[in-house]
Amino acid sequence: MDYLPIFTNIRNQHCLIVGGGPVAARKADLFIQAGAIVTVIAPKLAGEMQFHLAQGKIIWQMGRFSEAVMRDVPVPKLVISATDRQEVNLAVYRYFKAHSIPVNVADQTEYCDFILPAIVDRSPMTIAISTGGRSPVLARVMKARLETMIPQGFSRLTALVGAYREKVKAAIRELEGRKVFWETLLDGLFIDKAVHGKDGEAEALIDEKLEQVMGSGQTVPRGEVYIIGAGPGDPDLMTFKGLRLLQQADVILYDRLVAPEILEMGRREAERIYVGKKEKFHKVAQQDINQMLVNLALEGKRVARLKGGDPYIFGRGAEEVALLVEHQIPYQVVPGITAAAGCAAYAGFPLTHRDYAQSVALVTGHQQDGACDIDYARLAHSGDTMVFYMGIKNAPKIQAGLIAHGMSPTTPAAIIEKGTRIDQKVTVTTLGQLSETVSSNAIKPPALLVVGEVIRVREQLHAKKHDERVPA
Ligand SMILES: C[S@@+](CC[C@H](N)C(=O)[O-])C[C@H]1O[C@@H](n2cnc3c(N)ncnc32)[C@H](O)[C@@H]1O
Repeated sequence: MDYLPIFTNIRNQHCLIVGGGPVAARKADLFIQAGAIVTVIAPKLAGEMQFHLAQGKIIWQMGRFSEAVMRDVPVPKLVISATDRQEVNLAVYRYFKAHSIPVNVADQTEYCDFILPAIVDRSPMTIAISTGGRSPVLARVMKARLETMIPQGFSRLTALVGAYREKVKAAIRELEGRKVFWETLLDGLFIDKAVHGKDGEAEALIDEKLEQVMGSGQTVPRGEVYIIGAGPGDPDLMTFKGLRLLQQADVILYDRLVAPEILEMGRREAERIYVGKKEKFHKVAQQDINQMLVNLALEGKRVARLKGGDPYIFGRGAEEVALLVEHQIPYQVVPGITAAAGCAAYAGFPLTHRDYAQSVALVTGHQQDGACDIDYARLAHSGDTMVFYMGIKNAPKIQAGLIAHGMSPTTPAAIIEKGTRIDQKVTVTTLGQLSETVSSNAIKPPALLVVGEVIRVREQLHAKKHDERVPA
């Protein structure tokens, strides 16, 4: 390690900036934000520094830096020199070095007792990033990444946790017990509530856990379940929230449609359990999956249940939630991009369009025993863009049903295989040729059937892809 990362308290303490240009102004801004009394020595002040002066945020010592001028300036705790004259920067460095006051010459690590990191500011939480002065640009790239990963609400979360610190200390006397308490609390549902401003619910969670601990002496609270929509295939289509919860999980239950790259994003040590259809084996029954989620949560595990697309669109997510509710297990459902939205966007056409379709129907093409049949009469006259999930096997029925109720055989149709993945295939056809197109092309699952005038927009948008197969 080149530098020891420490956070210094400079509130109401004198700090000095030498230089009045834009770089000096940015450094002054950091001192100001940390509550310092900032003096600036410079013969003149440029725009930003003028602004600080006008706001009463700095004291201006007009003139050049010299030993003599230092007699009129309070002894500073920290000094930054950011002038464009190297002889001035060196004079500042030598003077304060001799007086054992830490000094930083901007952008010259060899003349720095301390360096200023890139900052992700979620005050009171502050994250500092340093490359030891080797690459400020790399530090900024890392900062940009962290900015997207850490919601703004972490400010609120940190303040809330701070407010409870003493109360928890009084309730749990042993250090280890407090550690376990905070670790479990800060890895789960509580974070989400606090980050999204649901302070009341977050506080209720802390209180409830505190009561549990005080009542039973048990410091390991119950687990929780995150039912996460993993999107249709492209791993980048996972949501930030889904990713965040996935990375907290001790156990990950996943099914066939979840991209392997998404599984990789979980914690290395998390247990991964496949609950999808296995070749030549029966798939794990839905009620067994429901029970597995409950059992794991009761063991105190944080469980991520990854589902393809969106959990509440032909995803049986509600059945899983029902059993969790029955057992009073905390859970969250994170929506995902459903196949219809992902596939249409990646295939190059919208699902609605002011000239072609005012509504969309998401339809299951796979009819459960005893379930009511697809209402072809309603669909055929609805003007909906129709998206059939699990509809490949029933393509002949879908085609016949819609045409029998008056839809034109020339209505455009599209078959999208492995939508949003690198090997996505789009086959454009017509309703009248749909089943013929399905049987004459070796369609690979997962695949979606779309029927509707809106597919015409694809050509208008010049989105014909090189991988497109047009039926004979
Ligand atoms: C059990 S449903 C799950 C749907 C999922 N919950 C969603 O919101 O997308 C599975 C069906 O979704 C469709 N599907 C899912 N992902 C797909 C993809 N990447 N490309 C094409 N179809 C997809 C297929 O019709 C597949 O048979």
